[in-house]
Amino acid sequence: MKDKHGSAALMLLLWLLPAAYIISCQSSARDSYEHSRNSTGKIQKEASARLRPAKTPDNYTVAFIGDQGPKVNALAVLELIKNEGADAVVHSGDFDYENNPAAWEARINAILGADFPYFACVGNHDDDIFYGSGGYQEFLAARMKRLGLTWEGDLGVKSSFVFNGIFFVLTAPGVLGSGHAKYIRDKLAEDHSIWRISSWHKNMRRMQIGGKENDTGWEVYEESRKGGAIIATAHEHSYSRTHLLRSCKNQTVASTSDTLALSADDLTTREDEGRTFVFVSGLGGKSIRDQELAGDWWACIYTSNQGANYGALFGIFNYQGREGLAKFYFKNIDGIVVDEFYVKAKVIKLDDWSTK
Ligand SMILES: [Fe+2]
Repeated sequence: MKDKHGSAALMLLLWLLPAAYIISCQSSARDSYEHSRNSTGKIQKEASARLRPAKTPDNYTVAFIGDQGPKVNALAVLELIKNEGADAVVHSGDFDYENNPAAWEARINAILGADFPYFACVGNHDDDIFYGSGGYQEFLAARMKRLGLTWEGDLGVKSSFVFNGIFFVLTAPGVLGSGHAKYIRDKLAEDHSIWRISSWHKNMRRMQIGGKENDTGWEVYEESRKGGAIIATAHEHSYSRTHLLRSCKNQTVASTSDTLALSADDLTTREDEGRTFVFVSGLGGKSIRDQELAGDWWACIYTSNQGANYGALFGIFNYQGREGLAKFYFKNIDGIVVDEFYVKAKVIKLDDWSTK
């Protein structure tokens, strides 16, 4: 991972940002895992009957973007992803805004390579030419095949797969298809990967801080939360990230800690133990919008009001060899980190898995 040092002008800009923004987006527990303890996790019930899922490699880095477009800023974000040494991309919809899948694919290949793990769900600007010969889905499917990856379902619409020990559920509520919440629930119940990511493009109004409306319904959020999956969205052209939530629908904060402990709902108890966070990573290159909303469930808000630039959210899974720990940071194309936090997932001990 390369750390670029910003120019004097950029450092000045950072200093000029409102104090509240600095406090909200910079981790008070910053680097607390750099030299400290191993992560631990509870043993899940019924674990002995399951096959142990694949382990995610140490420091496995996934970049999360959305709302890309075809221009220079989009290319700069792809270059940033390459320079950060990311191992995979999750693109949460809105690709090139030009209905030109071949050109979109060519730009990705030119910077990241034809065999780079680049996963995507369909956005509202991609649905005209998503299906069929020459459509976005055909390119996404061909890439999966080049990677030797099989998936379940309608790729990028209602689809899921495991890659390097991370379970990806890519859906399209409010864009294409129906029954996404049930699909998310069923797939998260079937899979037992430690790391689980549930991604789609659109939002509910209170799960973004710009001008978007209630497009997805709450169920996709709530089922992802109950399944202990990180919720990755885009659509609004800014970056925002919640605290750990015990309810997305009610925006109920479970903790304001900068270490966010994911948890799935244990169906054998009356309590709803589901805990996760939601982010909008929509600064992939198309445009940068303003802040129109606020709420105490937001841990970081980064819009034109805060002087935002394009960038990506990075998640480093099994950070420094600590299984079940991830370090996340949003970095812009000037090399400035504007949000940083840790995520913990429950680790199941090796002895609790069947080896058959
Ligand atoms: Fe969109």
